[in-house]
Amino acid sequence: MASVNDSNNPGTGSRGSAFPVDRPVEALIRDHNLVRKLADKYLNSDHPEVKKQCATQILQALHMHSQLEESVFYPAVRAIDPGMIAHFEQDHQQVDDMLASLRGMSLDDQRTDGLMRELIKMVMDHVQQEENDFFPKLERAGMDLTQVGLQMAAFEANLVHMQAQASDQGMRRR
Ligand SMILES: [Fe+2]
Ligand SMILES: [Fe+2]
Repeated sequence: MASVNDSNNPGTGSRGSAFPVDRPVEALIRDHNLVRKLADKYLNSDHPEVKKQCATQILQALHMHSQLEESVFYPAVRAIDPGMIAHFEQDHQQVDDMLASLRGMSLDDQRTDGLMRELIKMVMDHVQQEENDFFPKLERAGMDLTQVGLQMAAFEANLVHMQAQASDQGMRRR
């Protein structure tokens, strides 16, 4: 399981190191890079087990990252460019819909690969836009992001904690 250390190490999320509270954008870029790496591995593997494992990790990473952006980051930085943030939120909605469909599908299903590829393309375009169009704009605005970073770290630690609890309960039920 990818989340084996999460309950002992709250706040690290899937990034594997402490949340950089004074540079929250860096944490988001690290998430993007993790998804890029997993997507690359998914797309370039012919091994069903490897693909399954990558797909599961991509879904988990995206779920966590989306919630962090939607609940804390986007509201905090909306004023920088409300139109762009609204556009990002629409992208997230589309990605969330795809994630919901994928969760109900078997990874052995032939159609899953097509939808995974569609999801990856959509996500890659979205993260590219965040990194190329929005993050530089935010940087130029010179906003102090420490408060946002602290909120993001707390939100993520809480999510990780809740997930660990949910998986504990799931195990006890089995
Ligand atoms: Fe996003
Ligand atoms: Fe993002």
